[in-house]
Amino acid sequence: MIYLDNAATTKVKNEVYEAMKPYFEELYGNPSSIYSFSGKVKNDINNARKKIADFIGAGNNEIYFTSGGSESNNWALRAVAFAYRNKGKHIITLKIEHHAVLHTCEYLEKLGFEISYINVDKTGVINIDELKEAIRPDTILISVMFANNEIETIQPVKEIGEIAKSNGILFHTDAVQAYGHIPINTQEYNIDMLSASAHKINGSKGMVLCI
Ligand SMILES: Cc1ncc(COP(=O)(O)O)c(C=O)c1O
Repeated sequence: MIYLDNAATTKVKNEVYEAMKPYFEELYGNPSSIYSFSGKVKNDINNARKKIADFIGAGNNEIYFTSGGSESNNWALRAVAFAYRNKGKHIITLKIEHHAVLHTCEYLEKLGFEISYINVDKTGVINIDELKEAIRPDTILISVMFANNEIETIQPVKEIGEIAKSNGILFHTDAVQAYGHIPINTQEYNIDMLSASAHKINGSKGMVLCI
């Protein structure tokens, strides 16, 4: 078999496997326990968190590990919706988002949130004018994917981040297909939340982050 579905998932790299092996065999302690055996695990997790934070220009305390990109997207959208529901109930996203975003939007619509689904051109690039026109005083979140999982289109994330920031709106990007492939600096791009997924870049399944 020749495996060509690397956008869906990838084989774990040998160096990843070797780096993780001690945590299955010897260092299996609960990082929250109080003895030194667990303290080493906690320390190693914090070092991993710092490496990821440095990689994308985020703070150490802004990295959260989840079970995957789908959970990360769900969490980001729901967290903003529930935390900011008194400020507004309007969210903007793209028509071609991954189902993890689109299905969460459908769920939020059932709870009374209003979602604007922005069109893309024939190459999959967001219509920026439509995005600007969609912004309302009660818009609380813009969620636009960084790179598309089917047609590889990369969105003008920096421009979208600037638009969100200048309008006082939070910006989430599903960077599952971009993280590890394209340099990303969350501060330069004004990204408030980012979803990534280790198993798309030869890491272990169930190791994801969201800031
Ligand atoms: C753009 C995008 N977002 C989210 C996901 C979901 O990630 P996961 O498989 O880690 O749940 C995928 C997976 O293919 C994806 O391509």
